[in-house]
Amino acid sequence: MKMSVRHIVIGLGVAAMCGAGVFWLGLVNVGASTGHWALTDWLLHTAMRRSVQFRADTLPPEDFASEAMIRRGAAHFETGCAPCHGSPGAPRGAVVRAMTPEPPDLLDQVDQWTAADLFWIVKHGVKFTGMPAWPAPGRDDEVWSMVAFLKFMPSLDAQGYHGLAYGAEKIPNGRQRVLSVTANPALADCVRCHGLDGRGDGNGAFPRLDIQDEAYLHDALQAYAGGHRFSGIMQEATAGLDGETLAILAAYFAQQSAGKPFATAQEPLEAERLQRGKIIAMRGLPDNNVASCAGCHDRTGTQSRSQFPRLSGQYRTYIETQLRLFSTNTKRGGGPFANIMRQSSHALEDADIEAVAAWYAMQTPNP
Ligand code: HEC
Ligand code: HEC
Ligand code: HEC
Repeated sequence: MKMSVRHIVIGLGVAAMCGAGVFWLGLVNVGASTGHWALTDWLLHTAMRRSVQFRADTLPPEDFASEAMIRRGAAHFETGCAPCHGSPGAPRGAVVRAMTPEPPDLLDQVDQWTAADLFWIVKHGVKFTGMPAWPAPGRDDEVWSMVAFLKFMPSLDAQGYHGLAYGAEKIPNGRQRVLSVTANPALADCVRCHGLDGRGDGNGAFPRLDIQDEAYLHDALQAYAGGHRFSGIMQEATAGLDGETLAILAAYFAQQSAGKPFATAQEPLEAERLQRGKIIAMRGLPDNNVASCAGCHDRTGTQSRSQFPRLSGQYRTYIETQLRLFSTNTKRGGGPFANIMRQSSHALEDADIEAVAAWYAMQTPNP
């Protein structure tokens, strides 16, 4: 008997209906307790590995593996990743080990991936597994910090990891100190990164908060919490905090007295370029439509605008990153006045960004 096209179509139709019936009747067991079939496991994992290797083609930035990037990545890893993957400080808990698929212990895994592979996985996440994408899609700089830390992690013991994840305030001692200063437990998380005095680490991993006014800090925190300012790290740190807590935290950091700049700890820039930075800050570049920064930033007395951030004494690398984000239109976001800043930063070339950031980093913060 010759099979006609009609027979084939009918056969396929019946097969599809049987398949649909199996789903409809609930015969597929979606329970995670039975795990995946070995074949499903192999298919999912091979698909993931091939997919990552096919797409991973981004090169690491110049400062990849700097002390600041590793520290920034480690601090976020503790709250954003360790609950699923465990860390050199604490193994994975029983609940996450019962997930299907199980979030792997990354200490065994990271050496199998290149930095570009890890970048892709952390930026995009993995479908059907619970491995989330980076919450702020435009913040490749933050993703690279995480990759820098992941590559460094296998060399760490529990104590070394703890130092990186909790900073100088190493909790639990730090936590007790924090709670003795303020009754606010949310602050214990902030000080891991920003320090009890709001000055950060000295290496630029985190911005200084001690130099800012309360109104600006409050606007910034509300912008992160509301999803208007984009940072996978700060969106995670502010998630779940209510308005009253944000106000208390802004007030706490605004009260810290701003000390000297940290510029000496950073690579020096030639005098000529610093001079260029000063000109941009004080006069702007009228031919390129760049307004003077000092027209808005770090004004004193009655001219001061407490909603505008201060730049004098801020870390150079932080200022540079923010300017590069602003110049893209979509990657920075910000508070209610962010739009006027975007216009001012558009025409700045990369060398000018470096120059003006270096000059501001060397200035003594306003009292
Ligand atoms: C909700 C749990 C969860 C969180 C939070 C999570 N992951 Fe994952 N992650 C997973 C799961 C599940 C997999 C396994 C995916 C698979 O098998 O294909 C995974 C896979 C990975 C892999 C690939 C490992 C390998 O060799 O297969 C890396 C790298 C990774 N995660 C890094 C991170 C980082 C960095 C963070 C924090 C920014 C993070 N993950 C947050 C659940 C999580
Ligand atoms: C895991 C480290 C980490 C934790 C925890 C953390 N921060 Fe941050 N914070 C950062 C980083 C990194 C940035 C820079 C983010 C960006 O590029 O937008 C930042 C930025 C900020 C800013 C904006 C500063 C500016 O000049 O615009 C404020 C305000 C702030 N953090 C306050 C807090 C408060 C309050 C907490 C506690 C609820 C906290 N942070 C917890 C790392 C952290
Ligand atoms: C017209 C006023 C205005 C001018 C001119 C201006 N800025 Fe801004 N700038 C702002 C405002 C407002 C913000 C706060 C944005 C937000 O809501 O997050 C800001 C934010 C910034 C930030 C982020 C600071 C932080 O703590 O996150 C940097 C860096 C910055 N400006 C640098 C500059 C430089 C450099 C110049 C000069 C080339 C300049 N600005 C010119 C108004 C201005």
